[in-house]
Amino acid sequence: MTHQFDKEAAQWDQKQERVIRARDVASAIKKRCTSTGRALEFGCGTGLLSFALRPFAHTTLLCDTSPGMIETLEKKIQAENATDFSALLISEGAPELSGKTFDAIFTLMALHHIEDIGGTLGLFRRLISSSGTLFISDLVEEDGSFHGDNFSGHHGFRQETLNRQLQEAGFSRVTFEICHTMKQERGGKLKSFPIFLATATC
Ligand SMILES: C[S@@+](CC[C@H](N)C(=O)[O-])C[C@H]1O[C@@H](n2cnc3c(N)ncnc32)[C@H](O)[C@@H]1O
Repeated sequence: MTHQFDKEAAQWDQKQERVIRARDVASAIKKRCTSTGRALEFGCGTGLLSFALRPFAHTTLLCDTSPGMIETLEKKIQAENATDFSALLISEGAPELSGKTFDAIFTLMALHHIEDIGGTLGLFRRLISSSGTLFISDLVEEDGSFHGDNFSGHHGFRQETLNRQLQEAGFSRVTFEICHTMKQERGGKLKSFPIFLATATC
């Protein structure tokens, strides 16, 4: 899948739906937190969410496993002279982030691509400061038609399950809301794919 993201990276921002989705998620995050110190965007792609949130954090580290996405992001950072942003290519499980802490961590449409959800939430818990906030935005559980056949990731998330996994990872207060709905054509009809925002603190 990473290779697919590498291929799509240069044209990623041309799909207006992705830009609008990031803006809606950014608005929902800003209703809960207007500014922060050190932020991390995990599975950032081209950084649409971090750019939509600006101004938000004093510094933002944007990380992703796709070299193509990081290359495109670096060009955007340079073009926008976003000196508060830095891009980091990570490997699976993000050992490169070890020892760092953040006041806010946010992630959009990345978690369903990651096999080990418990391990990733545990990583977020280790990386977040004691007063920090985690924002996860992703697909509500769907029937598999979002990606279609040959997709090996998660078909979205069930609120109760993710809530339990967040508690198990060490987050104690979790809220959920729907912050955007994607509409895509399936079998000649428009199908809705709601996107949630989970906000979690320790
Ligand atoms: C659907 S894209 C979303 C990109 C961006 N967040 C957005 O909303 O436009 C999923 C992103 O997650 C990244 N990703 C997949 N597995 C990952 C992992 N294990 N750790 C970090 N990023 C990952 C992919 O490379 C890709 O850029």
